[in-house]
Amino acid sequence: MKTISVVCQKGGVGKTTTVINIASVLANKGLKTLIIDTDPQGNVSTYLNQEKSNTDNTTTTDILDGEKNINPLKVIDNLYLIPSDIDIKKHNSEKIIGGSKLKKIHENENINTFDIVLIDTPPTMSSLVQEALATADYYFIPSKPEFLAVEGVGQAMSFAKQTIAEVPHTNPVFLGVILNQVDTRRGSYQDFESELKHILADKLFKTHISQLTEIADSPFYAKTVLDFNENSKARIEFEELTEELLKKVGL
Ligand SMILES: Nc1ncnc2c1ncn2[C@@H]1O[C@H](COP(=O)(O)OP(=O)(O)OP(=O)(O)O)[C@@H](O)[C@H]1O
Ligand SMILES: [Mg+2]
Repeated sequence: MKTISVVCQKGGVGKTTTVINIASVLANKGLKTLIIDTDPQGNVSTYLNQEKSNTDNTTTTDILDGEKNINPLKVIDNLYLIPSDIDIKKHNSEKIIGGSKLKKIHENENINTFDIVLIDTPPTMSSLVQEALATADYYFIPSKPEFLAVEGVGQAMSFAKQTIAEVPHTNPVFLGVILNQVDTRRGSYQDFESELKHILADKLFKTHISQLTEIADSPFYAKTVLDFNENSKARIEFEELTEELLKKVGL
């Protein structure tokens, strides 16, 4: 099982969008995939048209409360979800210097049947993000292709480093930065990309995700890129991105 957290304290950069769409591509490839939402906003559930709190399945809050019997919600074949809701906020102020509670999922038989776990996080530098980082083998940072975003990426990397230093047994590998909402027609884009390549080298994903109406509209229709036809740009890009990610984690 490979566990990957998606982090950035900057809001609206595409954390939830990348988690949902990569997860649906993985599931479609036959990999048993679990999404864990740690964001009080609970956007993953909204995207996938699922209830945020459901008594029949486990929520991330339940796990942080110490629940050992973990029962994820089935979304479609091979795609499961542990949703989050506003209640998770009660775990937000706790310092996790005593060790991560979410990390206990690795001892759970149900969870160990998954090939890949993707963890979505809130746009904060909080203990909920630290929980996600402590639980993960890997993490990546989505970013918009804007000059100010570089600062956001730097801050996210420092926060991860600080978490690794402070929280016991935390050592996720940084997979890199994924550029999202790219418009290559914009004059400054090529300059921006080459500057970022210069700074990040192999930590910049080769595949980027374009700014696309179908992606912007998909939460409204509760769709993932797989619901678009095989030749849609959104689908092709997310399939390429998923291949690149799988290679990076050795799958
Ligand atoms: N490639 C894209 N093309 C068009 N719209 C996009 C793209 N990626 C994301 N969006 C839209 O941008 C908004 C923010 O995306 P998303 O919710 O994934 O960001 P986030 O980082 O999870 O936000 P938050 O920090 O609030 O959790 C959403 O409305 C989403 O549909
Ligand atoms: Mg989000």
